[in-house]
Amino acid sequence: MRENFAQETSAPKATKATKATNDTQDTYFYDPRAGHGLPHDPFKAILAPRVIGWISSCNRKGQANLAPYSFFGGFSDNPKVIAFSSDGYKDSIRNIEETGEFTWNLTSLALAEAMNRSAASVAPQVNEFELAGLTQVPGSHVKVPRVG
Ligand SMILES: Cc1cc2nc3c(=O)[nH]c(=O)nc-3n(C[C@H](O)[C@H](O)[C@H](O)COP(=O)(O)O)c2cc1C
Repeated sequence: MRENFAQETSAPKATKATKATNDTQDTYFYDPRAGHGLPHDPFKAILAPRVIGWISSCNRKGQANLAPYSFFGGFSDNPKVIAFSSDGYKDSIRNIEETGEFTWNLTSLALAEAMNRSAASVAPQVNEFELAGLTQVPGSHVKVPRVG
């Protein structure tokens, strides 16, 4: 057991994504810790499609924030649980830590451009609702505004 654990945690050899072919399918393998050797990291392309978590939040001063997060999902029906993760400590995370609240807004094709604009890397006090030309309406059960 101890030996197996040591094998699992030891540094991986620098291997490239490898391809094996049989009669019915192609199989690819890569170890993320060792790099993939491809022009683009395949991780996000493999985990697709992903629902966009269009997350609104506000800081303790009440300044609103909106940003898309594709590492988002529903994790439980009863109770209802949704969650997202961030590559680093971004404004949304800081706000949610401050207030304990966020809303999730469903994107649509018609809102795709606005959704992309809301991903701009801007100063915390910049309101992405305004930046993206969206209507900000009060939340129903939380202090955080949502997309109207
Ligand atoms: C479609 C889309 C999906 C994104 N998904 C993520 C994600 O899953 N995790 C992440 O950290 N950033 C993601 N981003 C980038 C953030 O939206 C971007 O860093 C944004 O400025 C964060 O805003 P905030 O600092 O107000 O939270 C995504 C951007 C777009 C356009």
